[in-house]
Amino acid sequence: MLTAHEFLHRLPKMEMHLHLEGSIRPGTAADLAHQNNVKLPPHDRVEDLYHYNDLKEFLDIYTAVSDSVLSADDFRRITYEMLESCAANTARYVEFFFSPQVHFVHGVTFDTMIDGVIAGMDDAKADFGVDSRIIPGVNRELGPKAGEELLDMILARKEERLIGIGLDFLEAPFPPEPYADLFARARKAGLKVTAHAGESGPAAHIAGSIDALGVRRIDHGYHVVTDEALMRRCRDEGILFTCCPSTAAVTSPWTVLDAEHPIRRMADFGLKVTINSDDPPMFSTDLGEEYRKAHDLLGFSPDMLRRSILDGIEGSWLDDGEKRTLATAWAAEIDALIAEFQPIPSRLA
Ligand code: ADE
Ligand code: ZN
Repeated sequence: MLTAHEFLHRLPKMEMHLHLEGSIRPGTAADLAHQNNVKLPPHDRVEDLYHYNDLKEFLDIYTAVSDSVLSADDFRRITYEMLESCAANTARYVEFFFSPQVHFVHGVTFDTMIDGVIAGMDDAKADFGVDSRIIPGVNRELGPKAGEELLDMILARKEERLIGIGLDFLEAPFPPEPYADLFARARKAGLKVTAHAGESGPAAHIAGSIDALGVRRIDHGYHVVTDEALMRRCRDEGILFTCCPSTAAVTSPWTVLDAEHPIRRMADFGLKVTINSDDPPMFSTDLGEEYRKAHDLLGFSPDMLRRSILDGIEGSWLDDGEKRTLATAWAAEIDALIAEFQPIPSRLA
C-alpha cells in the first residue's frame, strides 16, 4: 500500500507553468548578487525577500532578483537548478517561461541568455533525464513594440527548443488585445502561444486571449468561474488552464485553498486543468507541494489527477507522436499506482 503522499510523489508529471527567474533559490539569489555586485532589496535573511501580499509586490521582487543574473553561466546555473528541482519532484517534461526583457535593461543579450539556458537544459537532461522547452514571456507592461523586438530575436535565433511565447507580468491594467498582431506573427512563424489571463484580471482577459491572441492555453484563468457562458465555451473548445495553487492563494481574489476554490470548480465543471508551481521558491513551494495541495486541500481525487496529467500531455507542445507515446506509457504507470494506492477490496481478499 502507498500513502497518499507517496502516491502523489510517484505520479509521472509535466510542469507547464514555471518561470525561470521565479525558480531562483534564495541562496543562489544571494550568491549571484554578491558575485555580480548587485544590491538586493533590504532584508534580514534571503528567505525574507520572498514574502508578498499581491502580484505587484511579487513582481517587484521577481525583477529585483532577476537583476543579478548577468552571464551565460548565471543563466546555466539557474536553469540547471530549476530543472534539478523539477526532477526531484518527478517532473519528466517541462515547458518553462523566462523573462528576457528584464535582463535587456542590464545589457545582457538574448544570445547570452539562450546560450546559458540551453547549456543548463542539456546538463539537466544528461544528469536527471528531464526534457524541457523554453517559452520567452512577453512583458505586457512594456507594450507591443518592445514585444515585437523580442519576437525578432526569438525568430532570428532559430532554436527549436524556443517553442512558443507567453504574455505575463501585471495583468489587470494590461489587457491582451494590443498584442494581437504580435501573437499572429508568432503563430504564423510556427511558434506556439499561451497567455497569463484571469489571474488578477477579469474573465474578459481570458476571452480576449482566446479571441485576439489565438491561444488554446490559459495560464491561471481562475476568473473563468465568474462567467458561466465562458466556462461552457472553454469546455467545448478544450481550452487548457495551467493552474498554480500556491500562487492563486496570493495573487487572485481566491485566497483559501479548499473544495470551493476556482481550481476545483473548474475541474468539476469539466475544464482541462493542470497543476503547476509557477515560481516555486518565491512562493515557498515546489511541484510536489502543489500536488499535495491539490489533493489534500482542493480535494482532487486520484482519478482527477490522472485526468489532469493526461490533459496536460494533450495540451503540451510536444509533437503528436510524442504525445501518443507518453499518454500510453503514463496512463499505464498511473493506473498501476492507483491500483497500489487504492486496491479494489476484492483483490485484497
Ligand atoms: N511572472 C512570474 N509569475 C507570474 C505570475 N504569477 N503572474 C504574472 N506574471 C508572472
Ligand atoms: Zn506564471
